[in-house]
Amino acid sequence: MKILDGKKTGNDIKSEIADQVLQLKKSGKRPPHLAAVLVGNDGASLTYVGSKVRSCERIGYESTLIKLPEETTEQTLLNQIQELNTNPAIDGFIVQLPLPAHIDEEKILMAVDPKKDVDGFHPTNFGKMALDMETFIPATPFGIMELIRRYDLDISGKHAVIIGRSHIVGRPMSILLSRKSSPGNATVTLTHSRTKNLSEITKQADIVVSALGVPNFLKANMVKQGAIVIDVGITRVPDESHPKGYVITGDVDFEAVRHKASYITPVPGGVGPMTIAMLLQNTFLAYSRYAN
Ligand code: GUN
Repeated sequence: MKILDGKKTGNDIKSEIADQVLQLKKSGKRPPHLAAVLVGNDGASLTYVGSKVRSCERIGYESTLIKLPEETTEQTLLNQIQELNTNPAIDGFIVQLPLPAHIDEEKILMAVDPKKDVDGFHPTNFGKMALDMETFIPATPFGIMELIRRYDLDISGKHAVIIGRSHIVGRPMSILLSRKSSPGNATVTLTHSRTKNLSEITKQADIVVSALGVPNFLKANMVKQGAIVIDVGITRVPDESHPKGYVITGDVDFEAVRHKASYITPVPGGVGPMTIAMLLQNTFLAYSRYAN
């Protein structure tokens, strides 16, 4: 069993970007600028956005965090997005999800200028991805593909089983793994809450990507010997013995599954750090394609 080390790989990517930023600055150019909008006080979202902003600072980007109160109206948020769309100093921005229930998420994501949509959530960018056109690929699936590429894992012709059909992870993952490109060319099964006999399907998988959000869901008896196992779960499980009062737990029963897997991502230190690295990469792309 080998660990797919997202922390190290994410750091490699970040230092590659940092080198490029240094070159830009040396030649008198401004660095890329990422903004993040956070509505409300969800603890996990605060942590994720904080870590995105800190990563920007570390690699030499400009960053702006816009924190809006829970009771922010949809119109106020739309106005904020319009400001970011038209602000020439901002190369890309994200609106952290989930949004409070009174705000229509679809309406918000549709309002983001596709040229600045570094999350790749706008239908224009999502459609381009499905058609193999140049676009922004959502950071989590992009990070998983990049891990597969950097570890040189051969997935061509293999059976990939994805658990979860979310717009952010499962659905785009199914598109990317089946793409006619490298890495890609996998035969994909996209499973979800209505799937019957799930473990019969996961047992046939050469690659399993679990993006369900149920701690320790994927057990050893659901995995084939030698499978590649990618864990996208990051659930906070209460644990009083931990200083924070919780532990971040993945979808995969890591201690048992690791003995059967050929490669496996840990939680934390697997997919999470890759997501941030790819968001920074998308911001660099936005800067290179559209700035000036
Ligand atoms: N919430 C969970 N994952 C993500 C992400 O990748 N981007 C945004 N904007 N919100 C999220």
